[in-house]
Amino acid sequence: MDEHLISTINKLQDALAPLGGGSQSPIDLPQITVVGSQSSGKSSVLENIVGRDFLPRGTGIVTRRPLVLQLINRRPKKADHAKVNQAANELIDLNINENDKKKEEPHHSGQSEDNTDEWGEFLHLPGKKFYNFDEIRQEIVKETDKVTGANSGISSVPINLRIYSPHVLTLTLVDLPGLTKVPVGDQPPDIERQIKDMLLKYISKPNAIILSVNAANTDLANSDGLKLAREVDPEGTRTIGVLTKVDLMDQGTDVIDILAGRVIPLRYGYIPVINRGQKDIEHKKTIRDALENEKRFFENHSSYSSKAHYCGTPYLAKKLNSILLHHIRQTLPEIKAKIEATLKKYQNELINLGPETMDSASSVVLSMITDFSNEYAGILDGEAKELSSQEL
Ligand code: GDP
Ligand code: NA
Ligand code: MG
Repeated sequence: MDEHLISTINKLQDALAPLGGGSQSPIDLPQITVVGSQSSGKSSVLENIVGRDFLPRGTGIVTRRPLVLQLINRRPKKADHAKVNQAANELIDLNINENDKKKEEPHHSGQSEDNTDEWGEFLHLPGKKFYNFDEIRQEIVKETDKVTGANSGISSVPINLRIYSPHVLTLTLVDLPGLTKVPVGDQPPDIERQIKDMLLKYISKPNAIILSVNAANTDLANSDGLKLAREVDPEGTRTIGVLTKVDLMDQGTDVIDILAGRVIPLRYGYIPVINRGQKDIEHKKTIRDALENEKRFFENHSSYSSKAHYCGTPYLAKKLNSILLHHIRQTLPEIKAKIEATLKKYQNELINLGPETMDSASSVVLSMITDFSNEYAGILDGEAKELSSQEL
């Protein structure tokens, strides 16, 4: 039910994107936006949540366009096929003449198809499935260069990417360029202002959930990302803090004061994580090993061992999912009203135009909106009321 609700909203978002263009979708749906200084570890955090290496990374300004990343939990159909095949084989077995039983074909379950249960799809390349995550990275780079040119410029036109995987929680995340102060290379003198404006465009929406990524070995009070988040969300009611590089802190220091809300309190608090360092990346350390390492670090560290359950990437992913869900539920009545208004508008237009003039795009959108309204109209109000009183 929860997963279904979010995936319906994801579908709506894609369907409506051509109408309003990315962030200006007529229906303003909640998204988790990632902000922080350049090299604070934003790409590393995202990769750890997804569990795959696929984001362009580097020391310069690598992320130069917003990346709208939809993670969609998808259980492999293979398992079902295997069950169907097994059942079919059993049926065949029952019908087989005792003498023919030895002619049974060897079954195919030994074939490895591990690489087909996770893939990426870009909105600008509909229908093309990327099973190779290196190719996803290359496509992001290519698409970035296509719009921003080769002069390290930036663009607020988003790249839309969906990752289908049985290993992710259903989440929508937006990766944004890192905050930077000094222009490098051919960057315009006002690069700082340009990036700030772009980030503000995304995070100032009231339904944007802000994932503020800060390196734990820098002073939180100097955090540009947090400062920007507080500009648009002074109460911290839609900002969640992520503390990276906890492993790089000076001996004898920790983030306990920050976690306890004694430095800059946030309603959703802070979650400390440990990503792969540059050396780990050079040695091609796997994300699986990195997550294992992260778990061990928090469990064995005297400052964190008693609260290790509330540390690390898996807890961050869980928390993000419940915050997103909570937020969607709270905004359901508003979304529903907007959908109904849009639906009425389309219906009136269609009455005037006649159904034969309807193009395929608006037809798809109309049917999605109709489905959504029909499916949720009856339950939204009651559900939203009930759920908004629930604790996260
Ligand atoms: P972004 O610019 O915010 O996207 O940052 P990246 O994810 O590209 O990380 C920048 C650099 O910091 C890379 O060299 C990472 O290996 C390193 N890094 C990120 N997070 C951590 C961490 O938790 N611990 C350590 N040791 N290094 C990290
Ligand atoms: Na970087
Ligand atoms: Mg990055």
